[in-house]
Amino acid sequence: MHKPVLLDEALDMLVTDRRGIYVDCTVGGGGHLARLAGMLDQDAVIIGIDKDADVLEHTREKLKELPQKIILIHGDFRNLRVILKTQGITEVDGILLDLGVSSFQLDEARRGFSYQHDAPLDMRMNRAQARSAWELVNELDEEDLADIIWRYGEERFSRRIAREIVKTRQAQPINTTLELVEVIKRAVPGRSRRGKHPARRTFQALRIAVNQELSALQEVLPQALEVLSAAGRVCVITFHSLEDRLVKNFFRLESMDCICSKDIPVCTCNHQAQLRTLTKKPVVPGKEEQVRNPRSRSAKLRVAEKI
Ligand SMILES: C[S@@+](CC[C@H](N)C(=O)[O-])C[C@H]1O[C@@H](n2cnc3c(N)ncnc32)[C@H](O)[C@@H]1O
Repeated sequence: MHKPVLLDEALDMLVTDRRGIYVDCTVGGGGHLARLAGMLDQDAVIIGIDKDADVLEHTREKLKELPQKIILIHGDFRNLRVILKTQGITEVDGILLDLGVSSFQLDEARRGFSYQHDAPLDMRMNRAQARSAWELVNELDEEDLADIIWRYGEERFSRRIAREIVKTRQAQPINTTLELVEVIKRAVPGRSRRGKHPARRTFQALRIAVNQELSALQEVLPQALEVLSAAGRVCVITFHSLEDRLVKNFFRLESMDCICSKDIPVCTCNHQAQLRTLTKKPVVPGKEEQVRNPRSRSAKLRVAEKI
């Protein structure tokens, strides 16, 4: 069971019109979607998107009793505008993004997301995609691998891990999650292994790279702004500092009337504010939620409203 994070906090801020049209860009286990439906009138519409067909099929069953019109679409939210257009929708009242991976994906051993279960090195959310974690681990050069592990995993032993991966694969390919875990354990010094699992950061980094999670977020934000109706809201729950920074900067930029450099005396950009940020500081889970759901600890919610 996936435990939805910041459920009340996000949905209380998302809903502005009980009869509106809403998009859940990351349906996952449907926790947020089901609660959203519970807050809306029967003639509201919810479009749910997920790039993982298995997750969507599983959740489709769960959501079929909901009274509203729920349109579930297997797709990537980086194509939000086109997805809505194919449904004949040009404007929506609220958009939710709850980023990252769902417990359903982590627990499904064969998907290769988890360092706890043995499985082929995969980690693709969309299994129609060509490049999996296997290609990254076995084909990238050492420097690129180290950069990914450092940038997306903030792993201080990234260089050592990349070096050990390249050394190991010279003898034979690294095919499975547990083979990769063994490589990482060899690279990470024993004394620093206390506490968190030594493969946690590397697995997170590979997942973000395989699924191009940051570029998808970068692409969806301007589209969200474009399709929101006046006073409509976009709520984003992030789990990584790079994601949060992207959202924060986007909201800040789109809340400004002028984005000219400070050295220019007269505005030449003609930029107009289109958003109002409703969360000056990100909303984070309370102590109780953090204890009940340790995965929530790194979550940050930011919300903005279209002017
Ligand atoms: C954290 S889970 C969402 C959980 C959900 N809010 C719930 O309450 O059960 C994130 C989901 O987003 C999906 N996802 C991630 N990136 C995506 C993208 N670019 N396009 C569509 N779905 C994506 C994942 O497959 C995953 O199912």
